[in-house]
Amino acid sequence: MKEFLNKIFEDDCLTTLNKIPSNSVDVTFADPPFNLKKKYNNYKDDIRFQEYLDWCKLWIKELVRVTKETGSIFIHNIPKWLTYYSSILNDEACFRHWISWDAPTAPMGKTLQPSHYGILFYAKDLRKNKFYEIRYPHKRCRKCAYLLKDYGGKKNMLHPFGPLVSDVWSDIHRIKHNKYRDEHPCQLPLHLLERIILMSSDEGDIVLDPFVGTGTTVIAAKKLCRNYIGIEKDSDYVKITNKKLEQTIGSSKIGNSWVSYYLENIVTIRDIDWKNICNYFVIPEEIKKIDNTSIKLAKKKTGDYLSLIPHAFGVAASQSSAASGGRV
Ligand SMILES: C[S@@+](CC[C@H](N)C(=O)[O-])C[C@H]1O[C@@H](n2cnc3c(N)ncnc32)[C@H](O)[C@@H]1O
Repeated sequence: MKEFLNKIFEDDCLTTLNKIPSNSVDVTFADPPFNLKKKYNNYKDDIRFQEYLDWCKLWIKELVRVTKETGSIFIHNIPKWLTYYSSILNDEACFRHWISWDAPTAPMGKTLQPSHYGILFYAKDLRKNKFYEIRYPHKRCRKCAYLLKDYGGKKNMLHPFGPLVSDVWSDIHRIKHNKYRDEHPCQLPLHLLERIILMSSDEGDIVLDPFVGTGTTVIAAKKLCRNYIGIEKDSDYVKITNKKLEQTIGSSKIGNSWVSYYLENIVTIRDIDWKNICNYFVIPEEIKKIDNTSIKLAKKKTGDYLSLIPHAFGVAASQSSAASGGRV
């Protein structure tokens, strides 16, 4: 297996997948071409319906074959294709979730306005599947900082960081600014993949993406100190990915816990890590005050607990009595 690790293969996905041993990868994530006439460099994104589905069936079966018994399979696409993918996957693996990623998509004729992508989440074996509950920050009014959700009489039960993530993801946006994107028509946001990886793997595990594009999955894996395998048939995209990998180091963590952040905000943590991470936040003594006060990362004086979050956290981390587990 070592020969495949931490490499990008410039190849057709099926050719490389066929060489990878069965039951060897912890997480497979696929974001295939949608067959929607997107303008790729070398790929014709407009093939016949049945031809497209027959091809999808081949790589989906390969993804399941290479995934470990404890592992997970994720596939991102528009709902139309996911309905067909599910019928293939239901024979090969175990359904866990249809994650609805709230992001506007292209209208296809006279339709309701499409506004979510789906991410199918299958386990190779439900009883053995590796899975971690994850949390995201409370949603707040941008002007007054009040919590958007009404927790009624349960405010004392609030988790200081934020709620458990559900199967609807509306807090992660598509890449809007050109300065944050590569020359690729459908690059995914890094923190979307970081969330998936934090939820389904541990440090040192293996993450595989057979359509790696300009590298979102493998960059996310490297930032979180996982091993990666990327496959992409376009040489320009492979070059961009390799260049970004050279500049990426695995230190997206607070203390000893891996986290995902976007700009300067932590966007995903694992629930089991909160007991360690809470020490790095300033949290109101009275938990009810979370209502209108967002918790903040304490500024650091020494140490290097937030090595990748840029600048600014310059004073010592404080221990907070308000932090404990088991909350909504
Ligand atoms: C939807 S994009 C993936 C984008 C990627 N998730 C990212 O964030 O950059 C699909 C990619 O699959 C590549 N591709 C298409 N057919 C392929 C094949 N048979 N084998 C490997 N890569 C392929 C395309 O060149 C394209 O970059």
